[in-house]
Amino acid sequence: MTDALHRELLELAQEAARRAGELLRDGRPADLAVAKTKSSPIDVVTEMDIAAEKLITDLISDRRPDDGFLGEEGASSEGTSGIRWVIDPLDGTVNYLYGLPTWAVSIAAEQDGETLAGVVAAPMRGEIYHAVRGGGAWATGAWEGEQALACRPAPPLEQALVSTGFNYVTEVRAHQAEVAGRLVPLLRDIRRSGSAAVDLCDVACGRLDGYYERGLNAWDFAAGDLIAREAGALVGGRPGERPSRELTVAGSPGVFEPLQGLLEDFGAWHD
Ligand code: IPD
Ligand code: CA
Ligand code: CA
Ligand code: CA
Repeated sequence: MTDALHRELLELAQEAARRAGELLRDGRPADLAVAKTKSSPIDVVTEMDIAAEKLITDLISDRRPDDGFLGEEGASSEGTSGIRWVIDPLDGTVNYLYGLPTWAVSIAAEQDGETLAGVVAAPMRGEIYHAVRGGGAWATGAWEGEQALACRPAPPLEQALVSTGFNYVTEVRAHQAEVAGRLVPLLRDIRRSGSAAVDLCDVACGRLDGYYERGLNAWDFAAGDLIAREAGALVGGRPGERPSRELTVAGSPGVFEPLQGLLEDFGAWHD
């Protein structure tokens, strides 16, 4: 892995995320409707999710035709270069459908299962977050120039502001609500932003002390995981494991372990 390749992947991810973000921000139809549903009637896809994924995969495959893809809306190919792009073209579809501002484009480039570069663009915030492995986490947009990100100095857990999310499948979300109900009295408070990628970047920015969710897919967390870790946060799954569909936990050092321990005690990874 060379610095030149790092830079190429990062710059391509930044360009693709910025262009998809502009398409989503400026091209949102006033009468935007649900195009189809997936795992349940509330797991919705709009024409804009599909258009954004096409823009991203067209742009990247034009520049790097040998790379593979894993995209939420169906992009899936092996590639021959060893680089795979993990893409959530619109993270926070339900917010976007309703006109709420918390949504993002998330793009990660990985090699042998390790994320090398990650970009999350949050157009309605005017912010783009990025990281390359070993190079720190950065944001551009609302800040002056490029700003290094650092997670928040950890408070005791009872003063921690922690975000979570709920899966689209009824039985899973019912269980998640039970776990959240047990956690609320033990924390400062809980947030539910509607975008896992933004939650992870908010841990990186020091706007949240922690975040957890069961049922995420790689495209939800690949870029945000690297950005949070490069900002000094810890990210994992169940104790000793990497983030996965079972569980994703992120937090400032000091919040991460006790939060992960409680989630283990509460059986947050399954019902
Ligand atoms: C969803 C969002 C949400 C999280 C869900 C995800 P989507 O992604 O990240 O915050 O709670 O688990 O599926 O469907 O809007 O890309
Ligand atoms: Ca998502
Ligand atoms: Ca999505
Ligand atoms: Ca979705």
